[in-house]
Amino acid sequence: MTAHATQPFEGQKPGTSGLRKKTPIFMQPGYLENFVQSTFDAIDGVVGKTLVLGGDGRYFGAEAAQCILKMAAANGAARVIVGQGAWLSTPAASNLIRQRGADGGLILSASHNPGGPNEDFGVKYNMANGGPAPEAVTAAIFARTQEITSYKKITAPDVKLDMVGESHLAQMVVEVVDPVAAYADMMEEIFDFKALRGLFHEGFTMRMDSMCAITGPYAVEIFENRLGAPKGTVVHEQPLPDFGGMHPDPNPTWAHELMAEMMGPEAPDFGAASDGDGDRNMIVGRGVYVSPSDSLAVIAANAHLVPGYATGLKGVARSMPTSAAVDRVAVALGVDCYETPTGWKFFGNLMDAGRVSLCGEESFGTGSDHVREKDGLWAVLMWLNIIAARGMGVAEIMADHWEEYGRNYYSRHDYEVLPTDVANAMLGDLRDRLESLKGTQSQGLTVESADEFSYTDPVDGSVSEGQGFRILFEGGSRVVLRLSGTGTEGATLRVYLERYEPGPEGLAADPQEALAPIIAATEEIVGIRARTGRKGPDVIT
Ligand code: G6P
Ligand code: ZN
Repeated sequence: MTAHATQPFEGQKPGTSGLRKKTPIFMQPGYLENFVQSTFDAIDGVVGKTLVLGGDGRYFGAEAAQCILKMAAANGAARVIVGQGAWLSTPAASNLIRQRGADGGLILSASHNPGGPNEDFGVKYNMANGGPAPEAVTAAIFARTQEITSYKKITAPDVKLDMVGESHLAQMVVEVVDPVAAYADMMEEIFDFKALRGLFHEGFTMRMDSMCAITGPYAVEIFENRLGAPKGTVVHEQPLPDFGGMHPDPNPTWAHELMAEMMGPEAPDFGAASDGDGDRNMIVGRGVYVSPSDSLAVIAANAHLVPGYATGLKGVARSMPTSAAVDRVAVALGVDCYETPTGWKFFGNLMDAGRVSLCGEESFGTGSDHVREKDGLWAVLMWLNIIAARGMGVAEIMADHWEEYGRNYYSRHDYEVLPTDVANAMLGDLRDRLESLKGTQSQGLTVESADEFSYTDPVDGSVSEGQGFRILFEGGSRVVLRLSGTGTEGATLRVYLERYEPGPEGLAADPQEALAPIIAATEEIVGIRARTGRKGPDVIT
């Protein structure tokens, strides 16, 4: 008996990056099964197909992997390639799908959200190109979840996933692979490992905080084993089901241990952190935090120094709320720069069409066309390779960059877990007032234009509307407001603030001070604190 009767669950609508819910919701009998069967149905079944499977090691991941294997077998899949221990970082999964020519893959993660019995779990489907399913596919999955009446799953003992090798589950081959090897080999192809070994050999010091999440084993293999960084360079390197209680989101608020060390007297030369599933990154120099928007711009400006990009970039792309720092680099390089809605999936078409080789987002995501996901350790290696090639530290590289291109002062203010109705009413009011804002003054700033961002994909012509509010001030400053698409509780309001300073004076101010007039104008125009009763943001990046 492989067919099991079931009934639809409400709310199985994949968000920006797959379906994310509180773990107990996922653990309800039939919940995961319904979503996985709906996914299989939405991609015309998996008969004869090869899939990749793995996740970030969070609570319920191992059980979910067993369930998905039994469902794949019952649905006629030919082969599933699983990371040992059901582990795969998101970029490593993307690489395996591409490298092995798989038909797609399932990633078990809720990314940067905490894990554990009462925290978050998630499942995401990636396509044959290694990238997240586009909206047409996630919509088809959601439609299927609303009408599902049965799922297929064989009854069998659990498959041993703790040793590399092949076994059978009914007719299906289960191939357990080392989760790290293929990824680390790819990094050796892209970067100048010889120069990086030299850097560490000369005493360059680094701290990599893997936040008890999936990048630990990857970072130990790459930095300590292959590049010769001292043991202990990578901390919190053991992936744990609850991430050791850490909130594995690499930003100054959640990666506070790393921040304290990097801002302290004993700071190493370079610091970095990654998130739950290994696709995000934060870069910190001794005493300097690098904003993700600046990181993207620096990587773009220096990519030609890295062997994998020695022939130059095809083009670059950033999400709309990301600062325009990279736009200035694109102009200097003479390459196209695309502005997309928030969400890595929008970059996939541009990369597949050969229009861009480098992409980034303010949300601590940077990556290139080597895979179809953002890639945290890749970004760290980009920085290390640039540091090695230029013989400069992070602070010097930043100062040099701003001197050449000017500085886009930038910060994001987050208001978390707001009552959904309050947040919606506030932005609804703003929507109604957008037209009338033009020409108005606030805090000495004049509104030049105000609109809601909509995007037409230049490759397939698809249109995505309602992608965030933009208020542009005369002189090039702006504020962007949107609701997070990745939270699992209430509404999270993100406020993105930006001001351009051409220099040569005024390039070394504190971003919060440099942005103070825009912060005050935003409060005057939108009334966030007044309407939510909050005293200030929960997270500042
Ligand atoms: C995920 C996606 C990113 C996106 C981010 C935005 O990490 O992979 O591409 O930028 O979510 O999250 P938000 O909470 O702002 O919707
Ligand atoms: Zn992630």
